[in-house]
Amino acid sequence: MLQRHLQLSGDLPALSSQTSVNSTTSANTYQLLEIGSGTGQHAAYLPQFFPHIHWQPSDVAEHLAGIRLWLADAAQPNVAEPLALDVRSHWPEQRFHALFSANTLHIMSQNSAAICIAQGAAHLHDGGLFLLYGPFNYGGQFTSASNARFNDWLQARDPASGIRDFEWVEAHMQQAGLSLLADHSMPANNRLLAFQKRL
Ligand SMILES: C[S@@+](CC[C@H](N)C(=O)[O-])C[C@H]1O[C@@H](n2cnc3c(N)ncnc32)[C@H](O)[C@@H]1O
Repeated sequence: MLQRHLQLSGDLPALSSQTSVNSTTSANTYQLLEIGSGTGQHAAYLPQFFPHIHWQPSDVAEHLAGIRLWLADAAQPNVAEPLALDVRSHWPEQRFHALFSANTLHIMSQNSAAICIAQGAAHLHDGGLFLLYGPFNYGGQFTSASNARFNDWLQARDPASGIRDFEWVEAHMQQAGLSLLADHSMPANNRLLAFQKRL
């Protein structure tokens, strides 16, 4: 499903005059920011399938050393050094063609998730994609008993965390200028939500 949105460069927004390119990338490179890379397992694996994309992993500072280890093993030429990014704090002064974040909105507080959406949107080019992977609720309901149990576990650990409502996410995306492109069913009761910043 990620391929459907990112594989063909034609699916990605055209580079615009707003494009800010750092010194390690060419002007024709699509820039993707991964938010909350965790161990770095996605940044170590996925970019090989998207050679046209410059993949920028990020997470809060304490995760960067672990991400570097995964990236050193993978040695993908189109992956950047991981960036320290707490969504509640300073974002890079750059716009991206795509944002990807897996299994993060239910770990963050709802307030942090709202900031992530608003700031993410502000750092996307017009036409850019915001891809969210993870569990979501629909109509106020868990989509499985295992997600309900997972949510209990999350909230026992951190009461501010919890599985977010799809409708809440979509409303915040809409408010930030993005529209839903697709909502894919994924294994283990997860979803891949694809939003696009309106032109
Ligand atoms: C469950 S892990 C997911 C890691 C990885 N994306 C994956 O799917 O394996 C959640 C990640 O969200 C990150 N995270 C939590 N709050 C954050 C914040 N305020 N800003 C940036 N990342 C945050 C955590 O540091 C953690 O790496």
